[in-house]
Amino acid sequence: MMRYRAVIFDLDGVLCSTDRFHFEAWKQTAREVKAPFDEKINQRLRGVSRMESLEIILEGSPLALSGAEKLRLAEEKNARYRALLQNLTPADLTPGAEETLAALRAAGIKLAVGSSSKNAVFILERLGAASWFDAVCDGTMISHSKPHPEVFLKAAEMLGEPPGSCLVVEDAAAGLEAARAGGMDCAIIGGADMPFAPEYHIDTLEALRAIALG
Ligand code: G6P
Ligand code: MG
Repeated sequence: MMRYRAVIFDLDGVLCSTDRFHFEAWKQTAREVKAPFDEKINQRLRGVSRMESLEIILEGSPLALSGAEKLRLAEEKNARYRALLQNLTPADLTPGAEETLAALRAAGIKLAVGSSSKNAVFILERLGAASWFDAVCDGTMISHSKPHPEVFLKAAEMLGEPPGSCLVVEDAAAGLEAARAGGMDCAIIGGADMPFAPEYHIDTLEALRAIALG
């Protein structure tokens, strides 16, 4: 018996680690706006859209910027981030990703990506993982980013599954909140602080086999 008919994966921090690239690219933005930036602030950017991430950094800035200046900063950050992403290879996939997804698929479970990133397709291509999914819902297709459930609800719709049949895999608090708001169970990978307990805590992607196949 399958416990879930579909699994929706967050991308950054779940299927691969792009954190260090985001961190590097935002560090320069923070310097430009004279705002502090460290791992703790970086944590708050996980799962949150590019413009909202910029607003979080600007909380620590003494400058008052116009909309046009904010847009320029976000575009420059993305250009730096995209340049760094050129270094991404299939070796940056989370250990066990390929085997685990293949096992889920072989059991008849549908697979999707639900990411706030507008670079998701590019990242999946660099990882060699673009063909592994039945649906990819990303930051280019939504108007509200996590913790709003839109990206996961849309992914479920693309798969043709009701939210109650879907398991979300996340690394970020915003993603856990989005899954809960969408009526989906959530497995959290990694050790980030969560606002409430998810249905599952996992250390590795391999642990999903037992959870999803029940
Ligand atoms: C993911 C990351 C966030 C990032 C967001 C937007 O959710 O976890 O840290 O801000 O995507 O990414 P983008 O690639 O569109 O700038
Ligand atoms: Mg994430």
